[in-house]
Amino acid sequence: MPLSGLIPFVDRLPIPRVLKPVSQNRISTNYIVRMTEFRQKLHRDLPPTRLWGYEGKYPGPTIETHKNRLIKVLWLNKLPSRHLLPVDKTIHGANHGAPEVRTVVHVHDGVSPPDSDGHPEAWFTRGFKQTGPYFRRKISRYPNRQQATTLWYHDHALGITRLNVYAGLAGFYLLRDKHEKSLQLPKGKFEIPLLIQDRSFNKDGSLFYPKKPTPAPPKSPTPSIVPEFFGDTILVNGKVWPFLEVQPRKYRLRLANGSNARFYTLSFTSGQPFIQIGTDGGLLPKPVLVKKLILGPAERADVIVDFSKYKGQTITLKNNARAPFPNGDPVDPKTTGLVMQFRVTQPLKQKDNSRVPVRLNRIAPLFPHQASRVRNLPLVESTDRFGRLMLLLDNKRWDDPITEKPRLNSVEVWNLINTTPDTHPIHLHLVHFQIVNRQPFDVAQFNANGKLMFTGPSRPPDPNEKGLKDTVRANPGEVTRIIARFGPFTGEYVWHCHILEHEDHEMMRPMFISPNKTKSVVHNNHPTTV
Ligand code: C2O
Ligand code: CU
Ligand code: CU
Repeated sequence: MPLSGLIPFVDRLPIPRVLKPVSQNRISTNYIVRMTEFRQKLHRDLPPTRLWGYEGKYPGPTIETHKNRLIKVLWLNKLPSRHLLPVDKTIHGANHGAPEVRTVVHVHDGVSPPDSDGHPEAWFTRGFKQTGPYFRRKISRYPNRQQATTLWYHDHALGITRLNVYAGLAGFYLLRDKHEKSLQLPKGKFEIPLLIQDRSFNKDGSLFYPKKPTPAPPKSPTPSIVPEFFGDTILVNGKVWPFLEVQPRKYRLRLANGSNARFYTLSFTSGQPFIQIGTDGGLLPKPVLVKKLILGPAERADVIVDFSKYKGQTITLKNNARAPFPNGDPVDPKTTGLVMQFRVTQPLKQKDNSRVPVRLNRIAPLFPHQASRVRNLPLVESTDRFGRLMLLLDNKRWDDPITEKPRLNSVEVWNLINTTPDTHPIHLHLVHFQIVNRQPFDVAQFNANGKLMFTGPSRPPDPNEKGLKDTVRANPGEVTRIIARFGPFTGEYVWHCHILEHEDHEMMRPMFISPNKTKSVVHNNHPTTV
């Protein structure tokens, strides 16, 4: 049984250290990152928790780099051979004879070549004794030819991503550039990355991850899956409900939702807004004032928060109860309704001359008429032959042949047709996309005859979604239209729901960016699961 009852706001917010390179030359900056098992204190009153992490820390060290700077990382698996958490060997990936402990790192939002992207089947074990079927360079290369933004790196091994990330395998990756620097945003110790994740604990401090769904499903011949994990405590940078002492001035917060399944609707008890300046893929065209900031799994928000009028006050960052999601994430105002606290107790040491510029960025819009192809991609709930829940994209499973094969540099519109009762945060690797709009449709009609009948007008994206995105919330009963130019690399990537339990239960598909000359594509086609 998970243990709650921890006291909030007794631990200081940790700031992950910036990772030091092992070497550097004209061509690249080079890092080595080891994945190990260790114990770490996550709350004052909790015994140290056994975790997996990068460089002995949860979250891992922050990788900080600059646009166009090539970085190379040797990711080393030094983990034990048994998993920290209960592994379900009946789901995909695990039954292709793959070892129980396998890892592969994905830089989320990275525009990386396919041999370095962290393809789920490019996994490797301790000492590279075994490697997955997908080709991967031993030393990953990240060219960083994209604009400044908040990225994060996390594990992506097929079938166990939810467990590897839950065990602690995640960290920040901050990409900077000249333009961003010229804006005079709050920097140094006034720029704070916040990785938000929910966890549950056993009395001995160990991580709790359910073996079985609660409530138990009706009798089925094989165990059913855990459809979504929701923890009963909220951690920021690896501490349960931490606090941070701040000066009465502007801060830049880099928020990332690194939770398995939980959506957040964030707000301040002071009633002040977030001044959102950036989203997944970089700066927004102009700042947007947001009172309630919604972050689905994997979404990021770059925000400025001004504490100058709150000298001496304590401000809580809350997660509003009753988020507008039907996903059933339980929000209790006394526990999961709390995130962290800001105490405006430090004296202002220096005049704050950081700014919130009126114009932040230029984003070349993509228009549907530029698209060479429109794909209708239903998000569906289904069951396997044992009656277990499966979540599918376009009614296909991971091992089915690749169907999304955009041509290099072509523009496509993807209609994400959500026929399920849940919001799914849909993520595409490699590309940044723009949200065209969302439109309600008749789900029953669609399920009956595949016809899209709209039941209302389309809505433009929210003001703070009008930037480059890599993850979009696809709401139930809506078609979410996104548009992207597919490139700059060719090869096999993936797209998936970023609810990690969904991703691990078939809500992930390969996609192949094909060179302009046609060539046949072979997907790593294994005999299918069950
Ligand atoms: Cu953040 Cu494919 O993942
Ligand atoms: Cu990604
Ligand atoms: Cu999902």
